[in-house]
Amino acid sequence: MSDLSATPRHAVVTGGIGGLGTEICRQLAGSGCHVTAVDLAARAERVAAFRDEVADLDGAIGFEAADVSKFDACAQLATRLQRQHGSIDILVNAAGITRDASLRKMSPEHWHELLQVNLDGVFNMCRNVIDGMLTRGFGRIVNISSVNGQTGQFGQTNYSAAKAGVHGFSMALARETARKGVTVNTVSPGYCDTPMVAAVPADIREQIIAGIPVGRLGQPADIARAVAFLAADAAGYITGANLPVNGGYFMSF
Ligand code: CAA
Repeated sequence: MSDLSATPRHAVVTGGIGGLGTEICRQLAGSGCHVTAVDLAARAERVAAFRDEVADLDGAIGFEAADVSKFDACAQLATRLQRQHGSIDILVNAAGITRDASLRKMSPEHWHELLQVNLDGVFNMCRNVIDGMLTRGFGRIVNISSVNGQTGQFGQTNYSAAKAGVHGFSMALARETARKGVTVNTVSPGYCDTPMVAAVPADIREQIIAGIPVGRLGQPADIARAVAFLAADAAGYITGANLPVNGGYFMSF
């Protein structure tokens, strides 16, 4: 009898070399997965630094370049990875950008560019891995949304719309896949210690931190822990859920 538990799950993390993505890759590798980090090839310096940061994990994390905003690139990536690794068992969509501006100053380019990465990217990846997951009867999809998708944020009509959309998408897909062993959930981070939040003007950032009950920014490890929890084999009864990890910044039930 073959020992299925001996075969590591293959996890693909988009935005895998980013502020949250790197730690998500590390924690998934720590829980026994083989991980492929996916990100833009254009970030060559960051790719090199990422390889150093995960070198201690002994080859458990690889890197593949792809632009998630392009459907064909995602299709080719999924085919390539499934050929190399046999399957994609876990998909974490963490690729995301901000293009902050109040609506009266927001250009159509900044609207479309953000939607193409933050929302189309989730469709492009899910659409290209879902058949394999359904055929094999196992899958874990974790989409990174945001507290700002739940509350709206000044200057983020584009980002808040995309992130709210990510959760609607996840609930709909969760219904379509529940009977085939595939779960689909979102994690909604609050303000975290990442380059994205560091780019918020200092006075606004300080006001936001003052409003976080826990009294600090989240750490990428706080988010990665929630992702790894939902990605585990044992999490099969949680689907269509949103797991907020925001230090109490927005409480709801
Ligand atoms: N709340 C209320 N009023 C605000 C405001 C805010 N957050 N920000 C600006 N205003 C006010 C200004 O004081 C100004 O008032 P007056 O006209 O009376 O002087 C008015 O709104 C100006 O609006 P503008 O359109 O001119 O805005 P701006 O150009 O000054 O700044 C902004 C807009 C760049 C978007 C700025 O508000 C900002 O950077 N906000 C932070 C956005 C943010 O939190 N982004 C999160 C990024 S991290 C992330 O997204 C990760 C995650 O998931 C949590």
